[in-house]
Amino acid sequence: MQWKSLLSIAALGVLPNVNALLRFACSQLVIERLDPLLEPGKVSAHLHQIIGGSAFNVTMNVNNDLPSLSQCTSCTYSEDFSNYWTAVLYFKHSNGSFKRVRQLPGQLLGNANGGMTVYYSQPSNGGKVTSFPKGFRMIVGNAMTRSFDANNQEAKSLNFRCLSAGGGNGGVVGDPGTDSNALPKMKCLGGIRSQIVFPSCWDGKNLDSADHRSHVKYPNGSACPSTHPVLVPQIFIETVWDTTEFNNMWPSDGSQPFVYSMGDPTGTGQHADYVFGWQGDALQRAMDQCNSFGGACPTLKTQSIDAINKCTQASRVKETYEGWLKALPGCNPIQSGPQPATMVSGCGAPTTLAMTAPTPAVEDQLKDDIPITAAPPAMTEA
Ligand SMILES: *[C@@H]1O[C@H](CO)[C@@H](O)[C@H](O)[C@H]1NC(C)=O
Ligand SMILES: *[C@@H]1O[C@H](CO)[C@@H](O)[C@H](O)[C@H]1NC(C)=O
Ligand SMILES: *[C@@H]1O[C@H](CO)[C@@H](O)[C@H](O)[C@H]1NC(C)=O
Repeated sequence: MQWKSLLSIAALGVLPNVNALLRFACSQLVIERLDPLLEPGKVSAHLHQIIGGSAFNVTMNVNNDLPSLSQCTSCTYSEDFSNYWTAVLYFKHSNGSFKRVRQLPGQLLGNANGGMTVYYSQPSNGGKVTSFPKGFRMIVGNAMTRSFDANNQEAKSLNFRCLSAGGGNGGVVGDPGTDSNALPKMKCLGGIRSQIVFPSCWDGKNLDSADHRSHVKYPNGSACPSTHPVLVPQIFIETVWDTTEFNNMWPSDGSQPFVYSMGDPTGTGQHADYVFGWQGDALQRAMDQCNSFGGACPTLKTQSIDAINKCTQASRVKETYEGWLKALPGCNPIQSGPQPATMVSGCGAPTTLAMTAPTPAVEDQLKDDIPITAAPPAMTEA
């Protein structure tokens, strides 16, 4: 993928001054069973990890002004009050117990508490990119998918990289130079990085659509289809799962032991949601002016890693998702496919929300949350 070469270039300190590019860390805001796009107003089917502005909520009306409703954001570009969320990865022990896989910060971005690395970019032909409008949202991927369809452009935009020791970007074991669309079948010495590219062509009219995706399309090369003519920034998100903790607990038959929170052991059901929430014209200015591989973008305000790590919410769904669990949170029996998974309910998992308001930006919430992750992996380039 193009990101691999970009990272190599950044490591050498010679960035090409061509396309607009932002790369930044957002730490974990909260992990909970909410999905205000697919399942507004209720406890969602499976667990998500959420980053971004603290106005993330059970429902998120398109008219919500996220910058003014938020008290903080977990993103280092402090004008980004957007929310981004993905499913959560678990390890399934041969004894039947599950444990959540911790997340590592992205390379070279400091010691963010889990979360994701977010990229916004312009296509390689340098075409003019228009910022998303206020209220815009979209979903990529489908939690029920259990097989890879090579003819589906969305499916091809969701993949994994098996990281080499120390979190190195290269050294994809068993599948040289390429990423896999299913979870890697081998032990990854530096963890597994999930990589999700959102569509970057918009119909120019709809902030959302019934399926949360028909208002956007992937470009063909750098060109948008006539039905979706507006080139918006390409959002790319990475989550690094620290699977190394479990490398000495693999099942004796060698089978791949990781499973997404929706009971997906294939990885092809990985998905991500985005709700645009940049303040004012900050994103447009950045796309017009900045080429910043995690460095400064002078037109944008930034905040420290300490500040992003303090921007957290309390979970509104009272259930345990850490430690060794008997089952995945919610009703998510493992469904291996290849046929699409079916929704399961009535397993006794909580379905009601705690009525207490979430309390963002409380420093000592960190103590009962997951531990701050270890130092970022050393930069080792293949
Ligand atoms: C979430 O929505 C509820 C109901 O509208 C509201 O009372 C609460 O303040 C919101 N929370 C945040 C963090 O915006
Ligand atoms: C499964 O193994 C883990 C790791 O040794 C252990 O902590 C957990 O309690 C075990 N679960 C059961 C049901 O034995
Ligand atoms: C993409 O563009 C190429 C060349 O312009 C064209 O041959 C191809 O049919 C297009 N693919 C799609 C899916 O539109």
